Amino acid sequence: MQIAELQQLQEWFGSYVATFGDLDPEGLRNIRLKQDHTQRVVACMEALAAGEGLTDAETTLACAVALLHDVGRFPQYRRWRTFRDSESDNHARLSLEVIRDEALLQRLPAEEQLLIEEAVRLHNLLTLPDRISSPTDRFIRLIRDADKLDIWRVFLDYFQLPEGERASAVGLGFPDLPEVTPACLEALAAGEIVRLEQARVLNDFKLLQISWVYDLNFTTTRRLLLERDYLRRLAATLPASPLIQRAVDRAMSSLLTQSGQP
Ligand SMILES: [Fe+2]
Repeated sequence: MQIAELQQLQEWFGSYVATFGDLDPEGLRNIRLKQDHTQRVVACMEALAAGEGLTDAETTLACAVALLHDVGRFPQYRRWRTFRDSESDNHARLSLEVIRDEALLQRLPAEEQLLIEEAVRLHNLLTLPDRISSPTDRFIRLIRDADKLDIWRVFLDYFQLPEGERASAVGLGFPDLPEVTPACLEALAAGEIVRLEQARVLNDFKLLQISWVYDLNFTTTRRLLLERDYLRRLAATLPASPLIQRAVDRAMSSLLTQSGQP
């Protein structure tokens, strides 16, 4: 894949998003959120690619995966007014549908089409199979990490805005109550990934995002996560409780250990 082909995809992306410009102000905020997220995931991908020593050709492909991974979010929002897959449809599957309907990859070699489609299709699996026996494996791991890096940013930005200016779909409709669900806290405390279907309130969703430290693939991701201080900032928005603190401390020390820092 050539840089010029990636640029064409970028142009397509801009005009595709513009077709959602007829939504109401709340809808536009949510569309804009995913547009920004996409561009920032591309930037995260560039940082990961540089840190992990990808070739120029691999970097271009990885950026195409990043640009297309969430294109299904736009029709998902238009149709169901939510980014919650369980109340609508699997957004990775919807992304693939857009890629095919718009014939975006037609001019690429078959193996590159397959790689991009497969990485998009599998980017949101709860956990990956141990080893995917194809060159796609590395790209799936890259997009999963790049996506997480920006979702932490989106979520933290959300809390900094006054309520009236927040993109309503960020919190997935979870009520912002001063509690956590024991199953979510137990999972985090046990060093496991919190599952979305266990979450009932917004604090659970924060625990879930902290638990992503147990699902990172690359040293560069861990380094960027530490530099950007997302975990500590996210934890600071949780209720003060010794049990929560202990679970967060475990996640933080796991991140430091995995990063080779004591
Ligand atoms: Fe994403």
